[in-house]
Amino acid sequence: MTTVLDGLANIEHHDIGDAELAEIGMIMEMRRNFSVSVYKDKCMKRRVAIRMRLCRCNDAAAYCNLLRQSEQELDLLRKTLTIHVSQFFRNPSMFEKLRREVLPILYQSCAESKVPLRIWSLGCAGGEEAYSMAILLREHFARDLRHTSTTIDATDIDEETLSAARKAEFNEDRLKDLPDEICNRYFHPSGSRMQLTSAIREMVTFYQDNITAVGKFLQCNLVLCRNTLIYFARPDQEKILQGLADILPVGGILVLGKSETLVGEVRRRFTVVCPVERIYRRV
Ligand SMILES: C[S@@+](CC[C@H](N)C(=O)[O-])C[C@H]1O[C@@H](n2cnc3c(N)ncnc32)[C@H](O)[C@@H]1O
Repeated sequence: MTTVLDGLANIEHHDIGDAELAEIGMIMEMRRNFSVSVYKDKCMKRRVAIRMRLCRCNDAAAYCNLLRQSEQELDLLRKTLTIHVSQFFRNPSMFEKLRREVLPILYQSCAESKVPLRIWSLGCAGGEEAYSMAILLREHFARDLRHTSTTIDATDIDEETLSAARKAEFNEDRLKDLPDEICNRYFHPSGSRMQLTSAIREMVTFYQDNITAVGKFLQCNLVLCRNTLIYFARPDQEKILQGLADILPVGGILVLGKSETLVGEVRRRFTVVCPVERIYRRV
């Protein structure tokens, strides 16, 4: 027997029309100053369908009504649109490549030109990526850290995620892939969770920003922009990548996510350091 709930559970992204999607976009823009135009339509529709199922709205018009009336739903949709999945040392082989081949060169060139090393984790979610970099530097570049001023900035559009990142408390299962000695050295119990030591927390500065405003950032030597571009429509990906090329000096490094790549004209501004790990050097 089919129940009403069965019907609701079947809402899919193709049940949301372009007109309704545009309306949802307008509501988000007006009520949350959150521009959804940069996100891929299919990606948006999939996320809206998730919220519709959870709110038991059986069509997009009903969901638009709910969105107009509910402050809470505006926040929940925004959260769903900007998913925050991350993990410590995500794609470990990429961090290994940075350790062996990229960071030694960056530190050497910063030391020679007597400039600081600036690292930026963009779309940083819960901070795992930026903190992984901080741990990697502590573990393998202690001498360089003493001689070359090093900053790690981490930005995200979502303030709630950022405040969790600043607290740096993680459920134990989030650390299960880390070697025991790293857990013991850098984490301590805090209630039922594990907190990063202040020495690592203090190496990272978190602040809120929109990736589409990339051009206004300071120059950086290493930008980690992983698993974030993928949600953006191609023209916006190109704009963001051009912005990143602008803030990287010659020799600066850009790292993308495993399923992301350089698109459009910006390819000319980079050479490939490692195609598998999506590491590119500014030329
Ligand atoms: C899947 S997570 C990637 C986390 C991390 N970079 C990694 O690879 O593990 C994507 C992050 O991008 C953020 N994000 C989405 N749209 C954004 C925007 N317009 N500006 C800045 N951050 C954004 C989300 O809030 C989310 O935390």
